[in-house]
Amino acid sequence: MECDFITLGIETSCDDTALALVRGERGVIADVISSQIADHSPFGGVVPELASRKHQEALIPLLDALMSSAKASPSDIDLIAVTAGPGLMGSLLVGVMAAKALSQGWGVPVIGVNHLEGHLFAGVVAHPELKPPFLCLIVSGGHTEIVLARDFGDYMLLGATRDDAAGEAYDKAAKLLGMPYPGGPAIERASMGGDPYAYRFPVALKDSRAVEFSFSGVKTSLRETVRHLMNSSDAGLPIADICASYQRAVTETLLVKTELAVRETGVRRIAVSGGVAANAALRSGLSGMGKNKRWEVFLPPLGYCTDNAVMIASAGYSSYMRGGRSDLSLTADPSWSIWQT
Ligand code: KG4
Ligand code: ZN
Repeated sequence: MECDFITLGIETSCDDTALALVRGERGVIADVISSQIADHSPFGGVVPELASRKHQEALIPLLDALMSSAKASPSDIDLIAVTAGPGLMGSLLVGVMAAKALSQGWGVPVIGVNHLEGHLFAGVVAHPELKPPFLCLIVSGGHTEIVLARDFGDYMLLGATRDDAAGEAYDKAAKLLGMPYPGGPAIERASMGGDPYAYRFPVALKDSRAVEFSFSGVKTSLRETVRHLMNSSDAGLPIADICASYQRAVTETLLVKTELAVRETGVRRIAVSGGVAANAALRSGLSGMGKNKRWEVFLPPLGYCTDNAVMIASAGYSSYMRGGRSDLSLTADPSWSIWQT
């Protein structure tokens, strides 16, 4: 029987204003995003004050566009799911306040969703067969974490980055090389045809037995390599080789620790999410390991890797069906953690 329960998802935790209407857990009715990349690009990263102002400008026109593209009216909506954290305080508040106002005005319940639980649901939306227990590598501009989903709503953090996130490692490298923000796609494009073994950038903590990441060393190593190359030749930087080598080191760091997490937990079902999950080298590395080691690997479509509201609606629906509830005391929590021990 087709599920008639429709959730409006609202995502404003960072620099994407995103809205979606989702039927049940994964029936996407409409999905819209207003990206702020052009606004932040001149600054080489997200400027928090600018982000919240842009969310305020974008949200209501985007909601109008969503509702008219879906030919939906407020009476069609059964639940409003909004990202309440973690993320940028000012950005989160725009979404949470709008969700509460709509909830009051429309008489529809509201539920706060954890952004990282949202990322876990990116895989669930795309792959109905993805069921707990599974591991999820969350790799974005603000997060690099491996989580064990023991059940929906029961998540254990296996390890995280000690310093920069993987996406941040790409963003900072791109800035250093004079490339635009966001750096991940720019480095990926620039690495085409490059030799990934031209430079031996370090794979941090490779031999450590802890599931943890570090990306500050690879960034420092890149800076030193660039300085050395500029001092020793006038020929211009071998950008493709540098980017391909850098991408290899970041990817290998992620793969080595994913393998360790599988070994430690015995869980061989692996999902990946977050902006860096759009990276082709990481995707093919995970698929290759999956084939060799007989893991089931779940790669979400590119549009669900980066921030979107479909994953938020799906996570909110699932939580609501498990009895989760929020009320008008819901507020933004920039460092909200849902990991259990
Ligand atoms: O999940 P996301 O859209 O926003 C955050 O929650 O951070 O991730 C954005 C991050 C940025 O750091 C961006 O450089 C990175 O994901 N990213 C990529 C790619 N596409 C986006 N990194 C590597 N390769 C890509 N194709
Ligand atoms: Zn995200």
